[in-house]
Amino acid sequence: MPGFEIIGEEEKKEILEVLSNKVVFRYGFDAERKGIYKVATFEKEFAKYCGVEHALAVSSGTAALRVALAALGISPGDEVITQGFTFVATWESILDAGAVPVFAEIDETLCLDPAELRKKITPKTKAIVPVHMCGARARIKEIVEVADEHKIPVIEDTAQSCGGKINGKSLGSFGKLGCFSFDSVKTLTTGEGGMIITNDKDLYIKASEYHDHGHDHNPKVPRGLEKRSFIGMNYRMSELQGAVGLAQLGKLETVMLPAHRKNKAAIKQALAKVKGVTFRKIVDPEGDTATFLTFSLPTAEKTKAFNKAMGEAGAGAIYWFDNFWHYYEEWEHLLEGKSIARTRYPFKAESGQARCHHPKDALPKTADLLSRTLSIAININMEAQIPKITQAIEKAAKALGH
Ligand SMILES: Cc1ncc(COP(=O)(O)O)c(C=O)c1O
Repeated sequence: MPGFEIIGEEEKKEILEVLSNKVVFRYGFDAERKGIYKVATFEKEFAKYCGVEHALAVSSGTAALRVALAALGISPGDEVITQGFTFVATWESILDAGAVPVFAEIDETLCLDPAELRKKITPKTKAIVPVHMCGARARIKEIVEVADEHKIPVIEDTAQSCGGKINGKSLGSFGKLGCFSFDSVKTLTTGEGGMIITNDKDLYIKASEYHDHGHDHNPKVPRGLEKRSFIGMNYRMSELQGAVGLAQLGKLETVMLPAHRKNKAAIKQALAKVKGVTFRKIVDPEGDTATFLTFSLPTAEKTKAFNKAMGEAGAGAIYWFDNFWHYYEEWEHLLEGKSIARTRYPFKAESGQARCHHPKDALPKTADLLSRTLSIAININMEAQIPKITQAIEKAAKALGH
């Protein structure tokens, strides 16, 4: 998964170019920067790579979601539908916008189930955020069809699936906006960072202004004399991050994705021999980012026993069902409405009245699927670890009598 594994001369060259100019910020200082605009170039290249009109670099994947929601005008009183298997950032950003996250079930893709999505739509639904979890695709075309029927915009949370495609079309380009993360464990990393992509110029302008305190980025006036039409925040990316992003983007198709696919295929071969193992449904395997190998066993007990045996052999997998950061039933702060605010906003209104309610047992299908699911994280440089992992799989199969 992580692009940091292959940080090398290309990243150093890009970074040194920025440092030698001393202009490490993306806006202003036009006279000093000698024509070097790393973030703007990274945006242009990323948009081209994804086949979209606009890309806006931001400070994180969480920021990308927050800015995308702001660009859509999401406000208190709105509902935003997402899924119960994602990283907490997806719904944190919804709450931060003052809206209420509504959780729908996942299907065998382990992403938002389009049929379940339909059941959650109300007159208050103002956005839908499907998540392309663990490097693989949601049934995004069907999700967008459902959303279009109701004229609700889709923000694709593509944080974990940079480089993923369906029939050659980039993830993130199916909805109104696509959000990416370049944090420490992501395929393409900039240390911290994120990107928003869109074909909608108006949304791009709103996002660009919101992420920079409302600056209208009028090229005819110096920075600081620009106007603004609304207030914003600071979610800017720095030139240092832009420089690393450019170098990393150059390796995505040539080094990162091919290495993932090769390593995943090698481990999958060993797992495919185990009776009772089924693999996650992958929409268009050709466009898989292959950052995780995700599989299931028939029962939760067998799944836990299999993982215990793998762990004892030194190569345990990820059991999302117990995961505090990625699975609905474990999100105690959401379920119990715990926040840092004195008033317990956003869970409670000023009056003390609850603004949302999230019962623990609300997603039985998600619970069933995840209780039987394990993931093996795929790295770029993992050839030396593969024999240990395949041996662990064989030992676990033997332990279960499979
Ligand atoms: C699905 C998902 N959305 C959003 C984010 C947030 O990205 P960041 O860590 O860059 O803020 C992550 C990060 O892991 C993620 O996995």
